[in-house]
Amino acid sequence: MYLGLFLFFLALAAGYKNTLSLKQDSTPIIDDIVANNARQELSVKWRINLDDDVESNITFRIQTVRGKNLSKVNETTVHFDQPIGDGLLQWKWISEWPLQCTDHSVRVKRLSNSFAANWSEWKTNSGVQAPDDKPKIFPFEELLQEGSSGHFCCIVPRRGEIKDFTFKHISRQVSSIDKGVYGIIVNNLNHTNEYGILATCEDSNAQKTFTLNFVSFPPQKPRNIKCETHEMEHVNCYWDSDTPHSLNYSFMYHCILTLQNSIKEIQGTCNHCSFQAEPDQTVYNITVRATNSLGEESESLSFHITDIVSPEVQHLKVMPATRHANVSFFVKGNFSRFNLSCQVRTSDGNLTVKESLKGLTSSRYQVTMGGLQPLEQYTFEVRCSLAGSARGFGRCISSQRFTTHTEPPSVSLDLWRTVHQYSGTRNVTVMWKIIYNNNNSKADISEYEVQFGNSKQIVTGRDTNHTSINISLSTCSIAVRAVNEAGSSLPSYIVIPSFRNMSVTSPKAKRVSGHPVQGIPLSWEACDWVTCGYTVDWSKATEPKQVVNWVKVCVGSTNLTLSAEWFEPGCRYTFRVFGCHGNGSYHGKHVLVEEITGYAEELEPRRKPTLNPVSISSSSALLSWEFNEDDPADPGFITGYQVNVTESLQLVVSEQLNDLHIKNFTVDNLRDGTKYTFQVQARTTAGLGPPDETTAISPSNHTRFLVRLLIPLLLLLSVGILIAFYSKRIKTCVAPFFLTPFKLTARKLEINSSLYEVSEKIKALKVEDCPCSTIHVLEESSMGKHQMMEIKITGSQLPYCPQSPSNSLCGHVNSDISGITNMTYISTSEPLPNPYIVMLADSAAGPPGYVTTTDKLY
Ligand SMILES: *[C@@H]1O[C@H](CO)[C@@H](O)[C@H](O)[C@H]1NC(C)=O
Ligand SMILES: *[C@@H]1O[C@H](CO)[C@@H](O)[C@H](O)[C@H]1NC(C)=O
Ligand SMILES: *[C@@H]1O[C@H](CO)[C@@H](O)[C@H](O)[C@H]1NC(C)=O
Ligand SMILES: *[C@@H]1O[C@H](CO)[C@@H](O)[C@H](O)[C@H]1NC(C)=O
Ligand SMILES: *[C@@H]1O[C@H](CO)[C@@H](O)[C@H](O)[C@H]1NC(C)=O
Ligand SMILES: *[C@@H]1O[C@H](CO)[C@@H](O)[C@H](O)[C@H]1NC(C)=O
Ligand SMILES: *[C@@H]1O[C@H](CO)[C@@H](O)[C@H](O)[C@H]1NC(C)=O
Ligand SMILES: *[C@@H]1O[C@H](CO)[C@@H](O)[C@H](O)[C@H]1NC(C)=O
Ligand SMILES: *[C@@H]1O[C@H](CO)[C@@H](O)[C@H](O)[C@H]1NC(C)=O
Ligand SMILES: *[C@@H]1O[C@H](CO)[C@@H](O)[C@H](O)[C@H]1NC(C)=O
Ligand SMILES: *[C@@H]1O[C@H](CO)[C@@H](O)[C@H](O)[C@H]1NC(C)=O
Repeated sequence: MYLGLFLFFLALAAGYKNTLSLKQDSTPIIDDIVANNARQELSVKWRINLDDDVESNITFRIQTVRGKNLSKVNETTVHFDQPIGDGLLQWKWISEWPLQCTDHSVRVKRLSNSFAANWSEWKTNSGVQAPDDKPKIFPFEELLQEGSSGHFCCIVPRRGEIKDFTFKHISRQVSSIDKGVYGIIVNNLNHTNEYGILATCEDSNAQKTFTLNFVSFPPQKPRNIKCETHEMEHVNCYWDSDTPHSLNYSFMYHCILTLQNSIKEIQGTCNHCSFQAEPDQTVYNITVRATNSLGEESESLSFHITDIVSPEVQHLKVMPATRHANVSFFVKGNFSRFNLSCQVRTSDGNLTVKESLKGLTSSRYQVTMGGLQPLEQYTFEVRCSLAGSARGFGRCISSQRFTTHTEPPSVSLDLWRTVHQYSGTRNVTVMWKIIYNNNNSKADISEYEVQFGNSKQIVTGRDTNHTSINISLSTCSIAVRAVNEAGSSLPSYIVIPSFRNMSVTSPKAKRVSGHPVQGIPLSWEACDWVTCGYTVDWSKATEPKQVVNWVKVCVGSTNLTLSAEWFEPGCRYTFRVFGCHGNGSYHGKHVLVEEITGYAEELEPRRKPTLNPVSISSSSALLSWEFNEDDPADPGFITGYQVNVTESLQLVVSEQLNDLHIKNFTVDNLRDGTKYTFQVQARTTAGLGPPDETTAISPSNHTRFLVRLLIPLLLLLSVGILIAFYSKRIKTCVAPFFLTPFKLTARKLEINSSLYEVSEKIKALKVEDCPCSTIHVLEESSMGKHQMMEIKITGSQLPYCPQSPSNSLCGHVNSDISGITNMTYISTSEPLPNPYIVMLADSAAGPPGYVTTTDKLY
């Protein structure tokens, strides 16, 4: 019965156990354990039976152990929302130590309220077997993350003892991980370059090994992806990355190209990848992916191929001309369906040409660059873009520095001339000034060509501005050109009319006063035959043959103000105004119409007058002096004289004489017996010149009286005595003497002064009225000799006299030939130093031009 009861209970227990085992079938079985050694990650997979799993709460406890001792390294409770599929659960664990170091085992147990749970069997991931010869170090040639703690293990051969474990050549403190497996921990790893970092391990048998590992960090997102193509065949994509250059070894880059019906993966470098464009594809998607064992990042770009075209200009050639250059260059690529927009510019950016060119297939293109200056240095820059492309210009290419060709001088010459006549020939000095036609043109002139008649003269030197030639007496046209290696400028002409004798006098030069600031104002009478303007030339009065400069004014102008800067102060200039008649100022004939003389600024005289000996009486003195009042070397026009008389440093007379031609002065009211100093100075508008001075003492009056009185008295006395003694004896001999009448003559001084006073009173003697009068004054000396003094007054045309008719020649030139006689100006003074001859131009059509052959008139 007991046995039966026991059996029953046994059976009951068995039956219970059976029903219980149905419920308890949940002991999990680990399907799989997989190690990712690089990431030191264990992945464990197991399964639950979904059919009888009523609980939505899936929770497992998971244990991880290590080594032969099964030392626990992790125990955790994990709650799963749902299986990854078909009842499969997965859990991952990252080990501090490399998984190769030793065995790792995992087991799991379901946690449930409704039923009991058992641990699963251990599932083991085996470590590396202990080697036989040399120790092994893990991680082995792995990429570790910067800043992390490095766990290095060393598996000693035959699970023996370790002697030394170094990192970066420094021995570290070793811990035991498993039997024969030792580890070191290095905190806060620094990144390394591509040579990595060294760890060594040596066992008790002096077996040594080493390994290199690398430290970096996970890749960062590629930034600023840009793609371009030069010829629409090869596409290059570039991007930026923020990682240090030294870490580039630790990343892998790939360009993933999404094409219409495929995906292409291209390996790139750290910042660039390139690929072949697809013939029919215009829109591209590209993803740049950066990876390493620590992570992955990517960035994408979508573009239209025409928007990344950057045509590349190559083989630039420049063919310079004078004012333009032909530019040609090669652009590789098939642009036949497009237009290229190309830009040529000077390197300073001042000149730019942009041209649209029909696209070709790998060809040369040509552009002409205008607006250049001759003989100038340039460097060109050329760049192109695909017309309508968002990409803009491609890289620009620079030419060599080149120089444009020179061109014939683009100048005109302003010609002038002076003519000197010698017997049978004329010496013409041709002068020119350069007028630049083009403001900023470099005039590269090497020489000038002077052509006259059949002769030609070459004058070298850019700065030469005159030459002398000999011509005959007939009309001569002179042409002057500026020449350089490229050719010559247009010629400028000047005509020298032929020579014909006509006697005529020149008008007296008009005077002009300049101003040191405002300059010299010149004006002349208009001549109605003048058709091509006037020319005013000038020379220094002391060098009348040397024309200093000239100015041309247009017809209608009859005045001109010349800048004072051109003239030396205190230097007298002679200005000659020529009227031009004919066809244009180059072909016209230039005829002298007026002469003007003057200064830009007058200065004080430099010369002093020469005083003659003073005639002095007891009460008056007559001063006279010599002075040439019209010397061209004078620094101003002489306007008069200053006479000063001083008596013992006291100024007694100061007289300003304004009549140039009176070179004498009578000083009255002198005291007798006194010493006087007489001074005479010449005067210009600028002031007084140096004085000439002399001294004289006036005779005293009473001694003279005494002499006058005593002589007759003594005479009378002696005569009386003689008469008393010999009255009868010599009466006959003496008689004739006493019978001669006694002639009393006025003394010279008295007559002179009285004559002058009378003349002054009645104003009868005027200079002009008295062209040539001679006053003979006789003086009888005490010696009885007769002396004759001659004072000659010659009339002359005074410069300040109103000149009538005018000094202009133009009215006469305009009149008929018969009018020439009217031109004769007879000066009342001495004959002119040079005979003036008028020459009549032989051209019937030309003006009846008068040109005198004297130097003055040319
Ligand atoms: C055990 O491993 C898991 C997964 O790696 C981790 O989340 C957990 O913190 C670990 N527990 C301990 C105590 O290390
Ligand atoms: C069910 O899951 C919750 C967390 O979601 C947990 O707190 C609870 O203990 C679980 N119940 C069982 C029976 O494991
Ligand atoms: C393994 O266990 C043995 C005996 O319990 C002990 O001596 C040894 O140090 C343990 N090894 C490790 C690596 O924990
Ligand atoms: C990293 O570099 C710092 C300074 O350069 C140094 O102090 C530190 O020891 C380095 N860490 C390692 C693991 O070498
Ligand atoms: C490129 O990518 C964009 C979005 O990223 C997508 O809309 C487009 O269809 C893609 N094109 C190609 C040719 O793959
Ligand atoms: C370029 O132009 C500027 C201003 O217009 C001018 O000052 C400069 O001289 C020019 N350069 C050349 C080389 O012509
Ligand atoms: C012509 O005159 C100039 C200047 O007066 C002089 O230098 C030159 O020698 C003269 N020539 C001839 C051939 O007389
Ligand atoms: C001619 O050249 C000389 C020397 O260079 C210069 O002094 C003179 O002013 C020039 N004459 C003219 C009219 O330009
Ligand atoms: C100079 O000539 C112009 C006409 O050409 C005339 O208007 C002007 O008044 C003249 N000036 C003088 C100072 O004669
Ligand atoms: C003569 O007198 C004038 C006026 O008093 C004076 O300006 C001048 O300097 C004098 N001349 C001499 C040489 O003293
Ligand atoms: C002074 O000179 C004037 C002009 O030369 C002359 O007419 C006059 O007779 C002279 N007077 C004397 C006193 O010599």
